[in-house]
Amino acid sequence: MPIRPEDFSYVSKLVREASAIVLEAGKEYLVELRLQPIAQQAGLATLDKLVEKLKQDPTGPLHKRVIDAMTTNETSFFRDLHPFETLRKDVVPELIRKRADTRTLNFWCAAASSGQEPFSTMMMLRENFPELASWRVNYIATDLSRDMLARCREGKYGQFEVSRGLPAQLLVKYFDRRGTEWQIKEDIRKAVDFRELNLMKPWGPMPTMDIVFIRNVLIYFDVPTKRDILLRIHRLLAPDGYLFLGGAETTVNICEEFESQVIGRTTCYRPKQRVKV
Ligand SMILES: C[S@@+](CC[C@H](N)C(=O)[O-])C[C@H]1O[C@@H](n2cnc3c(N)ncnc32)[C@H](O)[C@@H]1O
Repeated sequence: MPIRPEDFSYVSKLVREASAIVLEAGKEYLVELRLQPIAQQAGLATLDKLVEKLKQDPTGPLHKRVIDAMTTNETSFFRDLHPFETLRKDVVPELIRKRADTRTLNFWCAAASSGQEPFSTMMMLRENFPELASWRVNYIATDLSRDMLARCREGKYGQFEVSRGLPAQLLVKYFDRRGTEWQIKEDIRKAVDFRELNLMKPWGPMPTMDIVFIRNVLIYFDVPTKRDILLRIHRLLAPDGYLFLGGAETTVNICEEFESQVIGRTTCYRPKQRVKV
């Protein structure tokens, strides 16, 4: 049964307030598709019954499940490839030179989904920069979705997932076969600090970051929310740090504290250097 307009408004408001994700008119089909299974699991026959239950218990666990279900978790290993090439060829070698005194590199992946993005970066670092074995490489990977974070910590992927973007030699080298699935090796899993973090809430203490990946998540937010998040990233990023966004995302006309820089085949964003007067 189609969702009633008043129930769609209730769900959109709830999701927007909790996660900043904007569900515009026309996204009713998505709400129906994603919430039907939750209603069924909760023993509720229809979506209006689910909404009734949400209203009765506005802080209950069902809310978290609804918000999790409304996140889009599409991702893949080495997604878009070029950002990882730019990291490998330009960004990481430059930062290794610049951070030779502290021998520390800080990475943040701010919408980790099921973990392919942080694990792709870790594999790329292991393959190309053996000298980093004696450095402190801090990799924080965060997401709003507890289901996704559980998947990240387990690091298990089906055949379809490992066939998307992951070169066969990396699969063989960094994964163990577990029945029909593949699990990324424990030392890589343990090298990433997975944390629950809602981008629209306070982030808690974080180190100054050298590289921030926040790809394919800002697209779901309105402009003031994008600006607020980008400004906070600006404060967190080292003056010579690098910000990577998704291919359909930009800081231009949203947060003028960044400037874009094309490196190889990737557009990166850098904190604008203030001119001293
Ligand atoms: C499409 S995935 C992007 C995954 C990966 N960065 C990539 O580009 O392949 C978007 C992720 O953003 C997360 N997300 C959505 N809203 C969020 C919020 N308010 N705070 C933190 N993460 C959020 C979702 O849970 C989802 O895993």
